[in-house]
Amino acid sequence: PVLRLGDVAALRGQVRAWRAAGEAVALVPTMGALHEGHLALVRQAQRSCRRVVVSIFVNPTQFGPNEDFSRYPRVLEADLALLAEVGADAAYLPDVATMYPPGFSTTVTVAGLTEGLCGPLRPGHFAGVATVVTKLLLQGLPDRALFGEKDFQQLQVIRRAARDLDVPVAIEGVPTVREADGLALSSRNRYLSDEERRTAPAMHRVLRQVAEAVRGGAPTAPALAEGREGLEAAGFGPVQYLSVNDAESLVPLDRVAGPARVLAAAYLGRTRLIDNVAV
Ligand code: PAJ
Repeated sequence: PVLRLGDVAALRGQVRAWRAAGEAVALVPTMGALHEGHLALVRQAQRSCRRVVVSIFVNPTQFGPNEDFSRYPRVLEADLALLAEVGADAAYLPDVATMYPPGFSTTVTVAGLTEGLCGPLRPGHFAGVATVVTKLLLQGLPDRALFGEKDFQQLQVIRRAARDLDVPVAIEGVPTVREADGLALSSRNRYLSDEERRTAPAMHRVLRQVAEAVRGGAPTAPALAEGREGLEAAGFGPVQYLSVNDAESLVPLDRVAGPARVLAAAYLGRTRLIDNVAV
C-alpha cells in the first residue's frame, strides 16, 4: 500500500525519517493520470534510491487561461493503484491551499531557456512549472528528483532553476517512453479521436527524419522545411514549431556541431502535442 502524504509537514517528516535511516529518497513530480511514462520515472528512481515518493498535483499556475486545467484528467484512485503496483513508497497529494496559501506572491522565472520553443506560446507556463517544482523540491528535500525528456525544455528549465537557486537535489532526466508506433505517451493522448490517434505517430517519424538529415552538419533549414510539410501533409496543423536546438542552451541551430535536439509542437485537431528526439 502506498503511504498518502497530504501536507508539507507529513512529506518533510517522512523524507527526513527515511534519510536518517540511511535510505536515499527520490521524488517524482507528476500531475497524475499516470501512464507507463510516469512509471518509467518511478522505476528509474528505484535504481538509485531505496524510497520513491510520487507527487500528484495539477498545478493551476502552469495552465494558460485557454488551456485544459479544468478538464485535465483527475483519476486519483487509479493512480494510487498503479503506484502500489510499481512499488512506489508514498504519494504526496497537496491541495491548492498547501501549494499556494493566501497571499502567495513569489515566482521562479528562468530567463534565456524560456525565450524560445514553448515559452512564447505559453506565457507564464514555465514560471508556473519552475515555481511549483522548486516548492516541491524544498518541501520534500529528497536526494534526487526525476523528470522525463518528453518535456525537454521543462527538464532544462528545472535543471537551471535548481542549479541557480542551490536547491540541494540532484536532477535526473529519463528517456521518453513511446507506444510501439512511436507516439510519446502523454496524459493528453486520451483527447485524440481514433483518426487523430492514427495520425499522431507522424510527429515522431518526422522528428527522426530531421535528426537523420542534420546529423552530419548539413544546414538545418531545408530539413526543417521538409519536416514541417510532412507534419502538415499528415494532418497536423497549425505546426507551432519544428526546430533543431542546442541540447543544453536550447539555442536554435543553423547547423549541428555538438549535442542537439529536434523539437516540435503542433496541434492535431484540438489537442496540442509536443515531442523531441536527440540528433
Ligand atoms: P506530467 O505531465 O504529469 O509529467 C510528469 C513527469 O512525467 C514529467 O517529468 C514528464 O516529462 C514525464 N513524462 C510524461 N510523459 C512521459 C513519457 N512518455 N516518457 C517519459 N517521461 C514522461 O510535467 C508535468 O507533469 C508537470 O509540468 C510537473 C513537472 C509535475 C510540474 O507541475
